[in-house]
Amino acid sequence: MDFTNKVVLVTGASSGIGAATAKLFASHGATLSLVGRNEARLLQVAKICEDLKQIKPLCLLLDLTMDANCEEVVRKTVEHHKKIDVLINCAGKVSVTSLFDNNMEIFDELMTLNLRLPYKMVQLCLPHLKKTKGNVVNVFGAPLRVRPGFLPFAMIRDALERFTKAGALELVTEGVKMNAVRPGITRTNVLANFNVDDDCVDMVYSKIASAMPNNVIIEPEEIAKTILYAASDTSPNLNGANLIVDGAASSY
Ligand SMILES: NC(=O)c1ccc[n+]([C@@H]2O[C@H](COP(=O)([O-])OP(=O)(O)OC[C@H]3O[C@@H](n4cnc5c(N)ncnc54)[C@H](OP(=O)(O)O)[C@@H]3O)[C@@H](O)[C@H]2O)c1
Repeated sequence: MDFTNKVVLVTGASSGIGAATAKLFASHGATLSLVGRNEARLLQVAKICEDLKQIKPLCLLLDLTMDANCEEVVRKTVEHHKKIDVLINCAGKVSVTSLFDNNMEIFDELMTLNLRLPYKMVQLCLPHLKKTKGNVVNVFGAPLRVRPGFLPFAMIRDALERFTKAGALELVTEGVKMNAVRPGITRTNVLANFNVDDDCVDMVYSKIASAMPNNVIIEPEEIAKTILYAASDTSPNLNGANLIVDGAASSY
């Protein structure tokens, strides 16, 4: 798959699946716009990308929970790279909350970042994706069993599944495709960002792995390969699809 002269915008590029995706696209010749908040991590990813094919990514350090920052990402990408061929919606975070909590702060934050943001980014990128007959890939969780504390995630997953399917139908007349890649439990910084101590991360992952059908935690590079495929035109009628990469963990 050749992404030479293709402009690929990756949110969540400073870490985990987004970082692995950025590097894989770079190795396939893509010109990148990378978005995150952690400067050191984003610049490190950008350096690796640049070293692969000597194409310097545009790095944008912005909090995407604010609409003005989303607008800035799209505006600066088009100013700098002149177009957008691919949007990868990969920014997200994990927090625990439930109906037993007495506030809506965490719920609202999760909805804003994990659900509203992909919608907003598609809206903003659409005028540019129409010109390039581009691709959108939404990254969100596989339909695993809902654990206590993760009800908003189940709601977000179902909404994003519908968004991907019905959104693809809305975009198809413009020649723009939208698909989803839905990982099972994947080894990223998600636990650290979830305030799990570094010393405990391995232990937590091995406990989670023991509950998986194949006893493995997925590596982000595997998810990145599926994202690359979904963003390519290898299969022109792959559209509105939810590609689940979870080692059969959701096949209960
Ligand atoms: N890891 C898993 O097991 C798993 C499973 C299913 C689905 N997913 C989904 O995959 C996506 C990537 O997750 P990951 O596991 O790679 O997590 P990660 O390593 O924690 O990376 C999350 C990324 O999102 C960015 N981000 C978070 N809040 C942001 C904000 N307000 N503004 C801008 N960027 C923000 C982070 O940037 P900074 O760190 O620079 O702030 C980081 O680049 C998420 O949507 C997640 O829900 C993950």
